[in-house]
Formats: sequence, structure tokens, C-alpha cells
Amino acid sequence: MTERVVSAAPGSDDAQFEAGLRPRRLDDYIGQDRVRENLQVSIAAARQRGEALDHILLWGPPGLGKTTLAYVIANEMGAPIRTTSGPVIEKPGDLAGMLSGLQTGEVLFIDEIHRMPATIEEILYPAMEDFELDIVIGQGPGARSVKVPVERFTLIGATTRAGLLTAPLRARFGINHRLDFYTVADIDEIVRRSARILGTPIDGDASLEISRRSRGTPRIANRLLHRVRDYAQVKADGHITVDVTRATMRMLDIDDEGFDEIDRRLLGTIMDKFGGGPVGVNTLAAALSEEPDALEDIHEPYLLQAGFLDRTPRGRVATARAYAYFGRPAPRRGLF
Ligand SMILES: Nc1ncnc2c1ncn2[C@@H]1O[C@H](COP(=O)(O)OP(=O)(O)OP(=O)(O)O)[C@@H](O)[C@H]1O
Ligand SMILES: [Mg+2]
Repeated sequence: MTERVVSAAPGSDDAQFEAGLRPRRLDDYIGQDRVRENLQVSIAAARQRGEALDHILLWGPPGLGKTTLAYVIANEMGAPIRTTSGPVIEKPGDLAGMLSGLQTGEVLFIDEIHRMPATIEEILYPAMEDFELDIVIGQGPGARSVKVPVERFTLIGATTRAGLLTAPLRARFGINHRLDFYTVADIDEIVRRSARILGTPIDGDASLEISRRSRGTPRIANRLLHRVRDYAQVKADGHITVDVTRATMRMLDIDDEGFDEIDRRLLGTIMDKFGGGPVGVNTLAAALSEEPDALEDIHEPYLLQAGFLDRTPRGRVATARAYAYFGRPAPRRGLF
């Protein structure tokens, strides 16, 4: 599959510019007001007490700023941060080593925490709760377990699928925040901020045009901004106008809703092949030659939130809104 411009998942050349555009302070973190206000209080309270912050779970669709927020939190705490991710940790010993090396107050960021194997996850329970490790020494009948203390640290876990987290792990996070898709106004502010950092002049109607097509996702907004900026530089005088923006979107085949070929194919397949649904996620994924996980994690969340797709117990359904958008008559659904 070729890389999608409007995918919320990180692309191969996102990293090089994302770092420079990442806000470092809570005040520069745009949107997510409720989460930000809550964190402001938690951080101020922990700082006043001179204690490590409670463990924090951040969850929500890709590209909404979980990693960014983890760095912002560490920065606001004045604490160093060490990062890893669920699938990277291979052996319980890897995690135990990491935990025992932490300084007081340090932040350990575990991305994709739902993908940690159960045997490794169990190491975290006593570490999070009592700041100690249960280490087994020896093997067989002679084996014994010793407790080794670790410093008081803050675990920040990020996940796109909170539902896949085990109950004991989830229960050990004192702070739990869900990130939502951003409003167009918030994305607009992010686009203007990014353009300022990049030193690119942009008209107000142009940044709004980009924001409307960004599917409420900062990662997509920044990526689109880069593509429009390239286009403006090569085909115009470098200034981003609404005409330049529209021309870039046509070139990228991104429509007014920020849908690309995959979205149109996804909704089109439900309407054409499955009579509008309901169709099970595995069947749909097979029809699209996509992985069911990618469908659920990356492609669906925005279509669901924007009201083009419905998730029912019997499968996915294309909504009346989807039919209207594609200019097709909606099927009459019987009562069942
Ligand atoms: N609130 C925000 N304000 C400004 N820019 C933001 C904000 N949130 C995210 N960004 C920008 O979007 C980019 C993607 O965010 P980030 O990498 O934190 O997403 P993520 O939720 O960790 O995604 P993933 O689930 O793929 O790991 C960042 O590089 C940053 O530039
Ligand atoms: Mg991330």
C-alpha cells in the first residue's frame, strides 16, 4: 500500500519535521482543554508536594498528540524522560533493568502499552504500586523471590486501544485521559503556529481550508501544511493562498472532507458490495485487502466520529450521511 497523505499513523518522513513542531509547554499545547486543565492541576499539586506525578494513561486515535503530551508533562515537571514501547520490550529483564535505572521523579513513557506481553506487564504491577520489583532468583525448587526497591517514578502509558489494556494494568493508573479529535478551530491554530515556526506566510482562509481537511488530527494538519508549502514554493511565490491550497488538495486527491481514495473505497465497498451493511470488520478488511487492526485503529475512528460510519453489534454500516455525501440514494432498512 502506498503511504496515505491523510493517514493519522506516522509516515516515514513525518519524524524529521514533527520534532520541530512539537509544543514543549502545556501553554503551547493547543486544544484538549479539559485534559490540559486537569493536568495543570495534577502537575502543580505534585510539584508543590515535591513528589513524583501519579501514573498517567493517555489514550485515543493516532496522531492526536499523546507522545507530544508525554514530553510536555515531563518538561513541566522538570523531570527527565525515558521512552520505550510495548512491542520493543522483549524480556521481563529488559523492563526490570529499565525500571531499576530510573531516577526519582523520572518519567518512563511506554508507547503502545497495550502491546506488552502479559509476562512483562506483571513486572509493572509492583513497580507502579509499591515501587519495588519482585525478582526471582534461581530455578526450580530452590528459586526464591526477592524484592528490590525502585525510585518513585511516573509511568506514562499511551495507547490507541484502551479496550485492549488488561484490568489490573488500567487500575494502576491514577490519572486517565482520553484525547479526542480536535475542532477545526483548534487545528487552524495549530496550522498557523506551525506555519509561523516554518517561516511560511499563509492566508487565513488557506489555513482554514487545510484545517477542514485534516480530520481533526494535528499530525495530518502538519503533513498537509508541508505539502501545500512545497507546492506554493514550486508553483507560486511561496505564499500559501487558498488557491494554492485547493490546487494541492486536487493534486493529492483529497476531497472537501479530507477523504482520500481509501476512505472512498471503504465507504463505497460497504455501500456497493454489502448493501450498506452491516458487515463484519474482518469481512470488510478482506474485501479492502487491509488488516482488520489497521481498519479499526487508523481508518475507522474519524469516519465514525464524523458520522459517516456506524458500528453496530452486527458490523459496520454506512450512514445516511455517507450516502448523501456520495450523492447516492440510501437503502431502505427494514426493522429487525
Ligand atoms: N495539541 C497540539 N498542539 C500542537 N501540535 C500538536 C498537538 N498535538 C500534536 N501536535 C503535533 O502533531 C504531531 C503528532 O503528535 P504525536 O506524535 O504526539 O501523536 P500521537 O498521539 O503520539 O500519535 P501515535 O498514536 O501515532 O503515537 C506532533 O509532532 C505535533 O507536532
Ligand atoms: Mg505517539
